[in-house]
Amino acid sequence: MERTLILLKPDCVHRRLLGRVITRFEEKGLNFVAMKMMQVTPELAKKHYAEHVAKPFYPALESFITGGPIVAAVIEGLEAIRVVREMLGATSGLKAAAGTIRGDYSASRQMNLVHASDGPEAAAGEIALYFRPDEIHPYEPTITPWLRARDES
Ligand code: CMP
Repeated sequence: MERTLILLKPDCVHRRLLGRVITRFEEKGLNFVAMKMMQVTPELAKKHYAEHVAKPFYPALESFITGGPIVAAVIEGLEAIRVVREMLGATSGLKAAAGTIRGDYSASRQMNLVHASDGPEAAAGEIALYFRPDEIHPYEPTITPWLRARDES
């Protein structure tokens, strides 16, 4: 089992796409184990996007991500880090394949609706940045026997 962090960004909230995006992950068979609505501060943005702080697009990215509430969540599932990234599609909504979340709902490089951790190290760091351990609530869904064979986990 892997855990990954997603952020449903301010564009996702304002465009009333929260429900649709959450539903796509649920329908895939992934488990939401933590979720909260919050405001990203400039300090948190700089920590979260540390690798981008020196890039030319960072000031606009910080204004965007701090410009309205977000919903942060932890998703759990087999190979969840890769599976969730593939469900999002390419960074730019203009390049993301049809059928992916960004491909279907975004036409922007910056306003790409959802962030997801890009590897195990990032996932561990980002989950710790947004959630305390006691805010994460793993559970075994009763439908698990109908989501995958026993020997797949
Ligand atoms: P995300 O997956 O959250 O990771 C970094 C974010 O920076 C990215 O999604 C976009 O929102 C934004 N981003 C990436 N590249 C660019 C760019 N070239 N111009 C503006 N914003 C960008």
